[in-house]
Amino acid sequence: MKIGIYPGTFDPVTNGHLDIILRANSIVDKLIVAVLFNPDKLSNTLFDVAERVELLKETTKDMEHVEVDFFSGLLVDYMMKNNVSVIIRGLRTITDFEYEMQMAHINKNLANNIETLFMVTSTQYGFLNSSSVRQLGFFGGDVSDMVPGIVEEKIREKYKTSHQ
Ligand code: PNS
Repeated sequence: MKIGIYPGTFDPVTNGHLDIILRANSIVDKLIVAVLFNPDKLSNTLFDVAERVELLKETTKDMEHVEVDFFSGLLVDYMMKNNVSVIIRGLRTITDFEYEMQMAHINKNLANNIETLFMVTSTQYGFLNSSSVRQLGFFGGDVSDMVPGIVEEKIREKYKTSHQ
């Protein structure tokens, strides 16, 4: 069975992420969407790891063979432990490409038996990223085209409480 992993920060999950999850799921037998739990980055995320996992679970609940988990430490260590052989990453821009190539090389050097597959983001999501969603949310902008309804709701709640 070919198990793939789609790792990321997912702060929060966007429609662009969901597009990659859906498409990646069709090329592996099982896909693990893995949220990075990095204690050093805790204060920098809008949603804590449990909230990010919950939003991913909710938004992927109708996708068969998709599991949501979190990890800390090295991605390749998680992969070895869970018998995962393929890393899926989405590519939007040349800037993404440089960063992603570097990560792919590092991961390959750490574990020669794993492969990284890049999926080009669907055109309509080529501009989309979680930090723009957070920024728009902070200033009360419309994010309804960028994230699923439940995520939009949670963003609104988050900024409402943080502004009080
Ligand atoms: O959504 P992001 O922030 O671009 O995801 C980055 C992520 C989580 C895939 C990457 O930071 C990662 O794999 N971190 C775990 C630590 C690790 O394995 N580093 C080695 C590759 S540089």
